[in-house]
Amino acid sequence: MKQYNKSMSDTNENKTIPTDQLVSLLLALKEDAQHQIDESDASYEEIRQLFFGKESELTHLTQFMRFVPKEDKQRVGIVLNQVKQSLEALLSKKAKESGIVNEDWMDVTAPGIRPPVGHLHIVTQAIEEITEIFNKLGFTRVRHPEVDWDWYAFEALNMPKNHPARDEWETFLINHTPGVKEVHTPGVRNIVLTPHTSNGQVREMEKGILPIRMINIAKCYRRQIDVSHTPMFHQFEGLYIDKNVSIGHLKGVLDYFAKAFFGPDRKTRIRPFHFQFTEPSFEVDISCGICNGKGCRLCKEGWLELGGAGMVHPVVLANGRIDTTFYNGFAFGWGVERCFMMKSGTQLDDIRVLYGNDVRFLEQF
Ligand code: PHE
Repeated sequence: MKQYNKSMSDTNENKTIPTDQLVSLLLALKEDAQHQIDESDASYEEIRQLFFGKESELTHLTQFMRFVPKEDKQRVGIVLNQVKQSLEALLSKKAKESGIVNEDWMDVTAPGIRPPVGHLHIVTQAIEEITEIFNKLGFTRVRHPEVDWDWYAFEALNMPKNHPARDEWETFLINHTPGVKEVHTPGVRNIVLTPHTSNGQVREMEKGILPIRMINIAKCYRRQIDVSHTPMFHQFEGLYIDKNVSIGHLKGVLDYFAKAFFGPDRKTRIRPFHFQFTEPSFEVDISCGICNGKGCRLCKEGWLELGGAGMVHPVVLANGRIDTTFYNGFAFGWGVERCFMMKSGTQLDDIRVLYGNDVRFLEQF
């Protein structure tokens, strides 16, 4: 195998070399390299030593860099890099030819790329938990429309057209399509994005199966947005219709749920209230889990309203064709998101983060 002329290396000691001469030696090295490989039957390792080893011409020539005058350094540096790259390319070609590098090779022991795994949204998790708690009490989850006739959302619930009680549920209306037959709504043709899940009450009664123990969980829509409201949210509506149902039954169910969902530390209170579709009516509050009842940005006074409850109004029962001489019942409707936020250990002070779609938040649950 041909050895490189070491003449220049030998002059290393006198430490001077004209720049042009260094450049032409470098270029000659590059020119010769392919030739070197073709002519020899040297192994990959021998070639590697020849090109890049301690005693290689390249190593020796590189040592002259120190003595190149400042103004020539850049020019020589560029040439030196080109020579190195070209030798590296030749060497890797040689490696492939010698079977040292196999491009099809795969390191099966290398760590894999873990595919991102998602999970159910926290609101869905809350819905599942709520469903389970009520299942234990014999309530079955049902589905009723989230876009419904004015009749089911308002009229049938004892809220006639233009009744001020509707204002609280100011909602999104959809124009009635001419030709589509309206249901139960002489003169009231509106379709609404349901502002509450109470539209499921009369729909459930219409099924004609008694007793009723339903839990209707669905999306609701209202024109409101702030730290404790989003325009779309979820409610769960309980309805129990049977013979001789009392407020005691209602309180028992509410307490059972509060204990199971929020934990034994949270306090609840019931205040008299007014709803058109229940009589008597109540509002159910739970002590705020963020400030423990002291008052904070979210709750203001230490209590958070969960939602309403009451004994189903006879007019509503009649609209659902229930025989009020034998049957009565209670109903309640609470917000899923609110319940989730008030749950022990959840330090959320703005309900809107639930729908911000920020995975940094969602991944924590
Ligand atoms: N629908 C009422 C609301 O959205 C809650 C409610 C449901 C009240 C059932 C009484 C009975 O606020």
